[in-house]
Amino acid sequence: MSLTASPLPAARDGLPQLIEPAPAGLPGLDALLIALRAGADDVQERLRRHGALLMRGFPVNTPADFERVARAIDDDLKNEYLGTSPRDAVTDYVFSASELPGFYPIPQHCEMTFTRTPPRRIFFWCDIEPAVGSGETPLVDFRKVWRDLPEPVRARFATRGLRMIRNYAGPGTQKQDLWQLKRWDEMFQTTDRAEVEHIAAREGFEAVWKASDRLALVSTHDAMRPHPETGEPVWFNHAQVFHLSTGPAELKRIFRYRPSLRGLFWWLAAEVLTARKRRVASDDQAMHCTWRDGSEIDRADLDAVRDAIWRNLVVIPWRKGDVVAIDNHAVGHGRLPYRGPRRVSVCWA
Ligand SMILES: [Fe+2]
Repeated sequence: MSLTASPLPAARDGLPQLIEPAPAGLPGLDALLIALRAGADDVQERLRRHGALLMRGFPVNTPADFERVARAIDDDLKNEYLGTSPRDAVTDYVFSASELPGFYPIPQHCEMTFTRTPPRRIFFWCDIEPAVGSGETPLVDFRKVWRDLPEPVRARFATRGLRMIRNYAGPGTQKQDLWQLKRWDEMFQTTDRAEVEHIAAREGFEAVWKASDRLALVSTHDAMRPHPETGEPVWFNHAQVFHLSTGPAELKRIFRYRPSLRGLFWWLAAEVLTARKRRVASDDQAMHCTWRDGSEIDRADLDAVRDAIWRNLVVIPWRKGDVVAIDNHAVGHGRLPYRGPRRVSVCWA
């Protein structure tokens, strides 16, 4: 393509590829859109090989601009969201990335791994950049995570498989649990139980209605999924996101990465809250993950996964107007805590 593409200094093995206006070229949005379409083969090859592109320095000023950039890479945008974050629609296809409060860590994950057809591409756009040293959307090559796992841990995940458990409150109920992300009517965009059951069956979720209009979704998965285009093995599941140990384990790593009194407080508070939740049965947790046979996963195995993820973390500060395009079958994303203004939007294909 006629745009400059190069790895950032903070990149790892070219993740992400930086695309900037050519020195003598126009920085206009149309120049980017034309170059992305004209260089489509190169764009797709870079996504396949390196896992993500960062487009920086272009005037991407509105959600409509963002959608045009995303469509120049993949025109097949989707707008059904079966993930766990609360999101607000900005346009028909652009959503706020997450309405979770800024202190809440979002561990690295590929998008919607627990659905039958996870997104192929996911795009983020920053129009209000957070304060320096906060609120980044780190990237991790989950192909490397699978390779970097200690062999016995990788073998256990490969052979034992996973069982994901999510419990949702019903319409009209107030949030009572810090880890409870949203209600089932928010997730499925309907209060019709038959419609919920239809979508759940389509996605391979077992739907169990419980007392007080609560809904449990249970699904089983392989831990590894070959990349659909290259066949490379990828850590492609939400085990280390849904497991009960996630909150304190993630906050501990964030504290070590970026020490602060506030970070220490949230880590210790999460340890206390999680210790209390251990008394709750696995199937009644807001979110949890066990081996496929229902037995508990040793926390050390999940810590080995988290260590592999954090060893491979790529953290790049947002700048206003940045657009990141990610191969969701290869590269995970997350969010580091922040305070103050920050606005990042998402769309996917
Ligand atoms: Fe996500």
